Amino acid sequence: MADNTLMDKLVSLCKRRGFVFQSSEIYGGLGSVWDYGPLGVELKNNVKSRWWRAMVHVRDDIEGVDAAILMHPRVWEASGHVAGFTDPLVDCRACKARFRADKLSEFQCPQKPSKHPGEHTTCDLTEPRLFNLMFKTFIGPVEEQAAVVYLRPETAQGIYVNYQNVLNASRQKIPFGIAQIGKAFRNEITPGNFIFRTREFEQMEMQFFVKPGTDEEWFERWRGLRIGWYHELGLNPDRLRWHQHGPTELAHYARAAYDIEYEFPFGWQEIEGIHNRGDFDLGRHQEYSGKRLDYFDQAANERYVPYVVETSAGADRVSLTVLVDAYREEEVEGETRVVLGFHPALAPIKAAVLPLVKKDGMPEVAVELYNDLRRRLPSFYDDGGAIGRRYRRMDEAGTPFCITVDGQSLVDRTVTVRHRDSMLQDRVGIDVVGGYIEERLRT
Ligand code: GAP
Repeated sequence: MADNTLMDKLVSLCKRRGFVFQSSEIYGGLGSVWDYGPLGVELKNNVKSRWWRAMVHVRDDIEGVDAAILMHPRVWEASGHVAGFTDPLVDCRACKARFRADKLSEFQCPQKPSKHPGEHTTCDLTEPRLFNLMFKTFIGPVEEQAAVVYLRPETAQGIYVNYQNVLNASRQKIPFGIAQIGKAFRNEITPGNFIFRTREFEQMEMQFFVKPGTDEEWFERWRGLRIGWYHELGLNPDRLRWHQHGPTELAHYARAAYDIEYEFPFGWQEIEGIHNRGDFDLGRHQEYSGKRLDYFDQAANERYVPYVVETSAGADRVSLTVLVDAYREEEVEGETRVVLGFHPALAPIKAAVLPLVKKDGMPEVAVELYNDLRRRLPSFYDDGGAIGRRYRRMDEAGTPFCITVDGQSLVDRTVTVRHRDSMLQDRVGIDVVGGYIEERLRT
């Protein structure tokens, strides 16, 4: 059963605290397009930099790229997207709503929400018709067929077309990978669930090029590494599971595929796909471009078109997962405390500096500490209102540490450090508190 209350609370918190806003809200919003506010952009950047670190920085067999969103239109013919990146669409003649024909069971009939579209007596669905999800635009001033280009619906193709360039420039040998983070666009028929399925989103994709015959082993290895990454983010392991694609679900390019799914308030849903794409992509680009994309394996003295193992996650979807997983409400002294219990590495603000009262020299000491601290880590200063209320505000923003300057600070240059989750406090020297926090962030 979908827990709409939790999603409603989260959406409202995200707006109130500046995580996520509806796009163009003052004009009534734009369907399923969202903007990230001050805290949201930090959260999403932390998700992306953690992925980049795990994929590119700590490994010596993966290189990064940042390819353009607009690509030669032939790319999308070769990839199969022009012919096959479609969803079946049905309209209801009675209520004028539009649905994906293959996902009717996931939606409510607008006229009778206890039923699915097509099940209510007045429903009158059209036959399904195929709808291509790519957004089209035009290069240059003339809007004609010859000038059509697409906003990329996945970042992966920017990697394949640069495979040979990266190989030449980096002197990597197979097996090796190329990683990319960037925007993708899909004209989804039924987007929704906040930032879960949107029309503009960011992907974090990695294509790992391997010798044919070693693909299944690498596929399993990447499955293990990717689920491990989510565990290290601190996500509840009971809310993560695998979904193996059956033969009817497999994408046109995939020999095998697993999704990592998370249990959202609206049900189990994919957050990342891991695919064994065989030689489909390089083979097709070789065919359509006429350029050789095979690899000469010096050690084995043989030529082959590499196989690809892909890991493909959505930065927005992972950010939503982190938000949902972190959200909790607790009863503390008869009041409800709302906490976003983020992993400290993901928290938008790492430390807040709070003078206990706005007098007696405490703000001066606190500002001095804040000026030092914000050069070292994302910090926040707040001297407005009762200390308990300020702690609650920071709990809601997911800030792991609150540093309070009190009367004793003026005597012995110590401060209290309050821990978000336990609410316990340590007393720490003002001159070492930055290092104390940095040490606890190194996880
Ligand atoms: N290159 C393979 C590929 O794009 P996908 O399963 O279509 O595979 C991969 O997408 C990931 O991209 C998904 O697991 C999801 O996290 C994210 N994603 C896909 N469509 C999305 C959308 N409309 N809104 C937000 N994220 C999306």
